[in-house]
Amino acid sequence: MKTQTWSRLWLDYHKVYEENKSYKIQLLGFSEKDRVIANALSEFKTGMSALISDDVLLSSDMDDAGGASILKIVMTDSVPTQGYSIKGSSEGILLEASDANGVLYGVFAILRAIACGKRPEELHETLAPSNPLRMMNHWDNMDGSIERGYSGNSFFFEDDEIVINDRTRDYARFMASIGINGIVINNVNVKGAASYLITDRYFDRLSELSGIFEDYGIRLFLSLNFASPIEIGGMDTCDPLDKGVISWWEKKTDEVYKRLPKLGGFLVKADSEGRPGPFTYGRTQADGANMLADVIKPYGGIIIWRCFVYNCTQDWRDKKTDRARAGYDYFKELDGSYHDNVILQIKNGPMDFQIREPVSPLLGGLKHTNQMLEVQIAQEYTGHQIDLCYLIPLYKEVLDFRTHCCADNDTVADVVSGRMMGNRLAGMAAVINTGDDMNWTGNDLAAANLYGFGRLAFDTTLTAKEIAIEWIRMTFALPRNEEEVLCKMLLRSRGVYEKYTSPLGIGWMVTPNGHYGPSIDGYEYSRWGTYHRADHLGIGVDRTDKGTGYAQQYYEENAAMYNDPESCPEELLLFFHHIPYTFRLKSGKTLIQHFYDSHFEGEEEAEGLARDWESLEEFIPKEAYERVKERFSLQIDNAREWRDQFNSYFFRKSGIADEKGRTIY
Ligand code: GCU
Repeated sequence: MKTQTWSRLWLDYHKVYEENKSYKIQLLGFSEKDRVIANALSEFKTGMSALISDDVLLSSDMDDAGGASILKIVMTDSVPTQGYSIKGSSEGILLEASDANGVLYGVFAILRAIACGKRPEELHETLAPSNPLRMMNHWDNMDGSIERGYSGNSFFFEDDEIVINDRTRDYARFMASIGINGIVINNVNVKGAASYLITDRYFDRLSELSGIFEDYGIRLFLSLNFASPIEIGGMDTCDPLDKGVISWWEKKTDEVYKRLPKLGGFLVKADSEGRPGPFTYGRTQADGANMLADVIKPYGGIIIWRCFVYNCTQDWRDKKTDRARAGYDYFKELDGSYHDNVILQIKNGPMDFQIREPVSPLLGGLKHTNQMLEVQIAQEYTGHQIDLCYLIPLYKEVLDFRTHCCADNDTVADVVSGRMMGNRLAGMAAVINTGDDMNWTGNDLAAANLYGFGRLAFDTTLTAKEIAIEWIRMTFALPRNEEEVLCKMLLRSRGVYEKYTSPLGIGWMVTPNGHYGPSIDGYEYSRWGTYHRADHLGIGVDRTDKGTGYAQQYYEENAAMYNDPESCPEELLLFFHHIPYTFRLKSGKTLIQHFYDSHFEGEEEAEGLARDWESLEEFIPKEAYERVKERFSLQIDNAREWRDQFNSYFFRKSGIADEKGRTIY
C-alpha cells in the first residue's frame, strides 16, 4: 500500500503577512457553476487563507459587502484567450479574462505575486500566454515504470491499471498553476497494455481522468501506437494509405471520441528507435500524420507528430551518415504538405537532449507547417535529478536563437508561438520529470525545472533568474541573502554540469543505456550515431560543407557562422568541427588544456554547490535539506569520476600533459 503523502511543491503557500480579510466575489459574465471557475475560486480561498489570513471567507452576497474586499471577475473580449488582466486597489482586486482558463491563470498569478511579496493593492499585470499549447509529455508506462524517470514510479499507472486519487487532482492543480493546458499521460513508446488505452478496457478511467484535467483547464492527450490496426485490430498492415486501415482508424476514433469527447488528440512517435511507422510501407511521414489527422479532424482533435526520426542502426565506420541531419532530411522537403491539424514536435537540438547542442535547424526551417518545441525536463543526460542542473537557461537560449527564417519574428520563440506563421497550433512541450516520490521530482531542487518550464511556456519573456526567484519564494520563502545563494546555485548549475561532463557541444560520453556517469567511448563504436571521433591528434565531428554538411541545413547566416571554426560559437566547436588538441581557443588556452581545466574546475564547483547548500541548512525543512544534501554528495562523486576518467582518457590519447601538473591517471 502506497503512503498517501506528497508535497505541495510551490503551492504550499507560506504566510507573507497577517491580515483578517474577507473577500466578496463578484462574477460578471462567468458562472460559479463552471468547474474551472469554481476551482479558480477555491484556489483563491485556499491560497489567500494561507498567504495573508487564516480563513479568507468567500461570499457572493454583494448586499453585505461591508468591510470586505472585493474580487471582481469580469468576462471581456479585450483580454486574449487564456490570458488575464489583474489590478489591485483599495477596494479589492479586479480580474478580467475572456475565458475560464484565463480566470484560473489570473487567480494563480494573484497568488504568485502575493507569495512573492506584492500586496493585493499593488497587483497590476496583463498577460496573454506566449504559446497556445503548453504541454507536458509523460513517459509513463502502464506497468508503473517511467522511461527516463528519476523520481519513483508513475502516479498514473500501476500494474496496467489507471490510478486516480487525490494526488491526481493535486497534480492537475500544479500544472494549471503554471499554465499547462495539455498533458500526454503515456510514454511515446507505446507497447503492451498502453496500446489498449484506445479501447473499452480503459475508457471509464480515462474519462474520469479527463474530467479532473478539464476541471483545471487541461486537455488529456494520449500517445498512440501507429501499428494499432495490427496490434489491437488484428489486421496485417498499418499502411496509412490502405483503405482498410483508414476505415479501421475512422471507427476507432469515433469510438474513442464517443467516450472521451474532450480528448485533445494523439502524440505519435513513428519510425523511430524501433517504433513502427509509415516508412515500413514506403510512405512518408506526412502520409502517416495526415491520415490520422483527417480521421480525427471531425472531432476537433489534433495529431502531434514527433520529428525524432533517425537511423539507429548506424555503422560507426561510416562517416557520411550523420544522425544530426536526419530530422531535417526527413521533414523539410515535406514542409507545407502537413494538414492543418498536424503539429510537428521537434526536439530542441538535432541529437537528443544533450547538455549543449545547437538548435535544431528544423525549427524555422519549416515555414509552412505547424511546429512545436520539445524539451526534456527529465534529466536523462543532465544528471538524473541527482546532479543539480537548472535547465531554464538552456530553454531560454533555444527560444532566443535567431533562425533567420525571415526578417522579423525569426527567433525560435517566434516560430513555436505561432507569431512567425500566424498559426494557432503552436507551442512548447516538455518531457516531464515527475514520479510518485513524495516530493514529485526526486531532487527537491529539480522542481525548479518543472515549475520553470510551465512559466516559460506561458511567458517566454521571463528570464531564468526571475523564474528561479519566483520558485524559491513560493517553495522555501527564504530570507533575501539565502534566496540569493540558492538562486545563484541554480543559475550556475548547468555550467558546472557541462564543465565536468562532455565539452564544447560534443555530447554523449555517458554510460550507455542508463546515461548517468562517464564512459568516454561508451557510444563510440555503437549503432546510435553518437560519435566523438577522438584520435591521438584531435576530436570532434566535421559537420561543415567538407564533412557531413549538417551546418548547411541552417539559413545562410547561421550556416556560415557554424561552418568556420573561427566564427563557430566556442561552446559548440566540437559539434561542428574536428579540432586538434593544440588548437588555441579564444581564452588563449589549447583545446587539451581547456579540457583539463574545465574538468578540474567543474569538480571543484560541484563541491562549491554542496557547500552553498550546507549554508542553507537552518532555513530549509529538514527532510528536504537532507534529501538534497545526499544528492550533492553523489554529484561530487559523479563529477570526480567524470573528471578523472575524462582527463585520463585524453591524456592517454594525446600524450599532452596538464600544464599545471595536477593528478591525471
Ligand atoms: C531518447 C531516450 C529514449 C526515448 C527517446 C525519445 O532516445 O533515451 O528513452 O524514447 O529519446 O525521445 O523518443
